[in-house]
Amino acid sequence: MRKKIIAGNWKMNMTPTESVALCETLKPLVAGADADVVFCVPAIDIIPVKEAIKGTNISLGAENVYFEDKGAFTGEISAPMLKDAGVEYVVIGHSERREYFAETDETVNKKLLKALEYGIIPIVCCGESLTQREQGITLDWIRMQIKIAFQNVTADQAKTVVIAYEPIWAIGTGKVATTEQAEEVCGGIRKCIAEIYDEATAETIRIQYGGSVNASNAAELFAQPDIDGGLVGGASLKADFSKIVKYNA
Ligand code: PGA
Repeated sequence: MRKKIIAGNWKMNMTPTESVALCETLKPLVAGADADVVFCVPAIDIIPVKEAIKGTNISLGAENVYFEDKGAFTGEISAPMLKDAGVEYVVIGHSERREYFAETDETVNKKLLKALEYGIIPIVCCGESLTQREQGITLDWIRMQIKIAFQNVTADQAKTVVIAYEPIWAIGTGKVATTEQAEEVCGGIRKCIAEIYDEATAETIRIQYGGSVNASNAAELFAQPDIDGGLVGGASLKADFSKIVKYNA
């Protein structure tokens, strides 16, 4: 039985001061949740959030990592830096990073390997555009993204990874995928993992849905057999996030 994992992706929101205030609001509300709870926060919020969530059931995540250990890469943050700061999860290959910051399936793969090397759990994002969905190539596209992302990743490593299926047309648009659409692709991803590795790995890996998840659609989405939780953007920035985390209450 896979444990659900519900992660907030704060994106470029929350100053350090605001980040602590949001933690204080959410801490009591998410306490006792059945699911794993993760806050993926901007780099500058990592240290204050780590302090603010001490002793709670909230885990700390970053939104990006670079694939080199150190050196002349102005503006980047390395896996050993994140590890030292107490980061447990890192979002890799979000569609916004692919679109605005030129991330490719190859850099996603390198970042995935680097995070795993340092014992940080990757939340690897994949997803199709509206055009690709209309062209009927959604599953082909996502299988390609997954196959490249997992190059040189062992089965034991893959079991620890979290995959987030986020249709680009559903992100920040209020246009959530139907439960059938979300389940179809998450099931397709699990099948792809079984092909790359084996059934045991496919049954262990956790697959989230992301894209306009909110307090009213979370329960139905997370009840699907292949959806193991959510990656939540806009709705993770307010008290209501606790209703998503406690979707089954
Ligand atoms: P959204 O974002 O919940 O605001 O649609 C999800 C994401 O991009 O992770």
